[in-house]
Amino acid sequence: MILRRSPQHGRFDPNDNISSDPRRVARFSFDEVLRQPESWRGAAAAGTKMLTFLSSALALFLSVPLLVFVALPHIRKYVAGGVCKSTAKLNGKVVVITGANTGIGKETARDLAGRGAKVILACRDMAKAEAAACEIRNTTGNQEIIVKKLDLADTKSIREFAENFLKEEKELHILINNAGVMLCPYSKTADGFEMHLGVNHLGHFLLTFLLIERLKQSAPARIVNVSSLAHHGGRIRFHDLMGEKSYNRGLAYCHSKLANVLFTRELARRLQDTGVSVYAVHPGTVFSELPRHSVVLNVLWTTFQYFLKTPAEGAQTSVYCAVVEDLESMSGKYFSDCKPAYVSTQGRHDETAKKLWDVSCELLGIQWD
Ligand SMILES: NC(=O)c1ccc[n+]([C@@H]2O[C@H](COP(=O)([O-])OP(=O)(O)OC[C@H]3O[C@@H](n4cnc5c(N)ncnc54)[C@H](OP(=O)(O)O)[C@@H]3O)[C@@H](O)[C@H]2O)c1
Repeated sequence: MILRRSPQHGRFDPNDNISSDPRRVARFSFDEVLRQPESWRGAAAAGTKMLTFLSSALALFLSVPLLVFVALPHIRKYVAGGVCKSTAKLNGKVVVITGANTGIGKETARDLAGRGAKVILACRDMAKAEAAACEIRNTTGNQEIIVKKLDLADTKSIREFAENFLKEEKELHILINNAGVMLCPYSKTADGFEMHLGVNHLGHFLLTFLLIERLKQSAPARIVNVSSLAHHGGRIRFHDLMGEKSYNRGLAYCHSKLANVLFTRELARRLQDTGVSVYAVHPGTVFSELPRHSVVLNVLWTTFQYFLKTPAEGAQTSVYCAVVEDLESMSGKYFSDCKPAYVSTQGRHDETAKKLWDVSCELLGIQWD
């Protein structure tokens, strides 16, 4: 029995038996044959769709473990950046690190302590600093980890720190100007300097000035100024250094980090043939407490911490510039990932560096030739 499709619905009609009429059978079979390629095409299209779906699902299914086990470790290694491979020992050497109670400073202190140095943690928060010192003593076995009070937002505190240090320590081989603030709401230091410029640049400028003779006496000696890639966005706005006419907290950080680069450049020029060399450093983008003044950045930092350097990884370039052998010819240069890095046009401007030096001396009431 052959059934014919109903013309309206295209379904087989049980009431229309055409097998009894041979002419209708022949015509029906011919029509069906004619229609077949269309149904094959439909079936083939459906098959292709299914295959595409299955292969996408398979690709997705395979890409997750591929990403986790193959790509992510490579990404992580890339993010970690350069490593200081020097095995230099620092027994008998004296190191001062500012802002060493947390983040990059603490890990720099831990590394240098592990190499045998006497490390002075120069910090504003004594409780946090004592806890960090205790941790460093326990992990390195080095008991010569000393905590000293230093608030870079107050020139009185900086002078007191230096006075005590010079009384107690006969030598200073490595000074790491690491402490820093970022994205502070508009505020001023005890001496009326805008906070970023005051802490990140002027505070370290004064500290270095007060300790420079001890560094020279202890030569070979080194100074490491922890700057940032953010210096590329900075300008030295001599007409409004304290941001009183216009203030943007992101830019204020950039300006202060450019000041670190220019200070390094000018200091290196002035320290030629003294045995004291100086380097500026970008530590990388590091998961630390630095974005504490920005809720948004804090959330981003925490969410994407896997793709940021750890503080220990961030400390590598500071450690490299402090200990690696034969780096003296590179004095004044800017480093990132344990190698020289590109400095912005502003950061290479000698006239600006000289002017900033003079203005800094004037603001701090010092004479440093
Ligand atoms: N993290 C990054 O991605 C990154 C990138 C480029 C450059 N850097 C630079 O790396 C350096 C270290 O930053 P970090 O990431 O380790 O940040 P952090 O974890 O916030 O550490 C900053 C340190 O500076 C100290 N500090 C702040 N104000 C001070 C003051 N007035 N007097 C004395 N110490 C003060 C802090 O002390 P308290 O704990 O008492 O506040 C802390 O110990 C900074 O110079 C920063 O600009 C960081």
